[in-house]
Amino acid sequence: MSIGVGIIGAGIMGADHARIIAGQVAGAHLVAVCDADMGRAEAAARESGARRVIADPMALIADPEIGAVLIASPDATHADYAIACIKAAKPVLCEKPLAPTAAEGLRVIEAELTAGRRFVQLGFMRRFDPGYTETRALIDSRRFGAALAVHCVHRNLSAPPHFNEAAAIVNSCVHEVDISRFLLSAELVSVQVFRARRSSLAHFHDPLLAVFETSDGQLVDVELFLNAQYGYEVRGEVVCETGTIAFGPALSTEIRHAGVTATGIAADWRPRFAAAYRIQNQAWIDSIRSGKPAGASAWDGFIATTVTDAGVKSLGSGASERITREKKPSLY
Ligand SMILES: NC(=O)c1ccc[n+]([C@@H]2O[C@H](COP(=O)([O-])OP(=O)(O)OC[C@H]3O[C@@H](n4cnc5c(N)ncnc54)[C@H](O)[C@@H]3O)[C@@H](O)[C@H]2O)c1
Repeated sequence: MSIGVGIIGAGIMGADHARIIAGQVAGAHLVAVCDADMGRAEAAARESGARRVIADPMALIADPEIGAVLIASPDATHADYAIACIKAAKPVLCEKPLAPTAAEGLRVIEAELTAGRRFVQLGFMRRFDPGYTETRALIDSRRFGAALAVHCVHRNLSAPPHFNEAAAIVNSCVHEVDISRFLLSAELVSVQVFRARRSSLAHFHDPLLAVFETSDGQLVDVELFLNAQYGYEVRGEVVCETGTIAFGPALSTEIRHAGVTATGIAADWRPRFAAAYRIQNQAWIDSIRSGKPAGASAWDGFIATTVTDAGVKSLGSGASERITREKKPSLY
């Protein structure tokens, strides 16, 4: 039977998820969309063909037609909505981050432990991106020896007005935190955040450079430049003992004309990770049907918040900060 999905938050991501669930995912149908701004909810419902608009997120979670919930509202709302879904025994795909801090994220872990089973898949969609999955397979094959270091670039056209340095770590760098753990199958043990010379076009100190050390002694550096002006670009390179593996940007056409080669650069993440979002959402629906969890868990989301907590601390101290090691419960 097809799974009825309800979406909370109908902004950039929620509207995109609505399109994907309604048109690109098998085994599910979009029942309703909800947003604090009814106009946005109605626009997303109209565009995706969702049958209903529900004003109250808690009513959406309780709705008997809705078997699974996708949370795409702002970061600070994720934990409360995820916990409500767990209490209602409804599977949830929660956009990253799990929460802005580890203390808030821990509440979600406690709710799943109380329920005695996993309900949450976290929206770390890069784990489903073909380039990243191939990179991980190459690392695991040890064809080029051990992985020693990872360079990551995370650039946005421009940051929204409410962004600041801490948001760059908590909201943006959290992707690199998760993907480093995913690629290297290692935990991050320390972080230090450096400020580069400040761009005159940024309303906070941008760019930042974060350097992580892993439990296996690898180093991961992340350039976070959220006001790069030219477009959205996420890419990187893994340095191994006898070779390197570059990941991203997504394949696209390359033009040769008038003495130059050119490829397009997206304005935001949706075109770059279109395949990843589609594969992620299908894996979520398939996992609900099979009962086998897929993708990042609430635990992965929680661990990422312990790392970003330490990153924010490093912004204040200027020093390298140890990341709190948490004991993984057997549920995960
Ligand atoms: N996985 C990714 O690549 C990716 C990319 C961008 C954003 N995100 C995450 O997705 C989430 C949404 O980001 P966005 O860019 O779509 O933001 P957005 O501001 O475009 O949309 C958020 C929407 O939530 C609504 N909203 C606000 N408070 C609400 C509440 N309490 N209950 C219900 N709706 C509420 C707003 O009216 C808005 O329409 C964020 O958590 C963000 O971190 C993930």
